[in-house]
Amino acid sequence: MADRIVTDSIQHPDRAFELTLRPQTFAEFVGQRKVKERLELSVEAAKQRKESVGHILLSGPPGLGKTTLVHIIAKAMGANITVSSGPAIERAGDLAGLLTKLEKGDVLFIDEIHRLPSAVEEYLYPAMEDFRLDIMIDQGPNSRSVRLNLPRFTLIGATTRSGLLTAPLRSRFEIADRLDYYDAEDLQHICKRSARILNVEVDEDGSREIARRSRGTPRLCNNLLRRVRDYAQVRADGRITAEIADKALTMLEIDEHGLDEMDKRILETIAVKFAGGPVGLGSLAVAVGEEPDTIEEVYEPYLIMEGYVNRTAQGRVVTELCWQRLGLKPASATQPRLI
Ligand SMILES: Nc1ncnc2c1ncn2[C@@H]1O[C@H](COP(=O)(O)OP(=O)(O)OP(=O)(O)O)[C@@H](O)[C@H]1O
Ligand SMILES: [Mg+2]
Repeated sequence: MADRIVTDSIQHPDRAFELTLRPQTFAEFVGQRKVKERLELSVEAAKQRKESVGHILLSGPPGLGKTTLVHIIAKAMGANITVSSGPAIERAGDLAGLLTKLEKGDVLFIDEIHRLPSAVEEYLYPAMEDFRLDIMIDQGPNSRSVRLNLPRFTLIGATTRSGLLTAPLRSRFEIADRLDYYDAEDLQHICKRSARILNVEVDEDGSREIARRSRGTPRLCNNLLRRVRDYAQVRADGRITAEIADKALTMLEIDEHGLDEMDKRILETIAVKFAGGPVGLGSLAVAVGEEPDTIEEVYEPYLIMEGYVNRTAQGRVVTELCWQRLGLKPASATQPRLI
């Protein structure tokens, strides 16, 4: 059977571009100082002891640098990396295929680890803990369990939904860190770095404008930089200034506060259609025509962080700030409720 290794080329069509811009070392990785410091220290300590680093779980919304960090860690360890993902490992046999190919010190990266089938997950526990794998061979009366010893490897799991991970799996990671949205200063840093690599001329105010409107997300910041570059090239002299960035981003319907079309649709739906809320995730998803998971993983964390939406026991409600930004008056149904 062919290996079912899913690489990020399948997940991200813009892979070539992302690869060019992807930092290769901890030093190049901008922001997330605490997470970076902790990971760097663990890697250094393991290297000094000539051991492999303990299993690592990285969580956080999409585009914040989880995959990037995994590759940086493997490189810093001088380790080979095998890349797979939760949904690609359908059966225990798929996992066995991956694990038995590992060599001492290798990194096994399982992206979207929250989507690992539970039957597979149970095989992972002894592999992580005791570096052994008990597999059943044959069927019926001839079936028997065979124990395989595995070399010491490091499992790195990445997830946008750490809440969906089972407690037994989570507890088997020695290191668990969460990436958070980047502040405007760090994003500006990333924007300038990417502009240098792509050979794009961007001035201080231009990079600040792009950073400010990137939803705290490096991937988006890089994508916007590319789009603004196109605009600057065709409609101006190629140089990105604040004015050019603003015009380009307005054309892309990315508003002054960095909210995109779907962000605005979600806020307007809760505010207008559901009179400010509370509204459950399912109803909201249907109303805006998006998957509940996507709303919860991709859109909502940012809207909550920026203070536009609150989650209550009854559902999502919009805040005073949201009413202000939408230029609307709070619906009477949105008086504060006690919960
Ligand atoms: N700290 C950083 N400094 C510079 N660039 C970064 C940083 N973090 C991410 N990037 C850029 O953003 C891109 C996306 O990051 P990455 O693929 O690591 O995100 P992710 O968290 O794995 O997202 P997903 O959950 O969608 O898999 C990278 O290719 C890289 O160019
Ligand atoms: Mg990733």
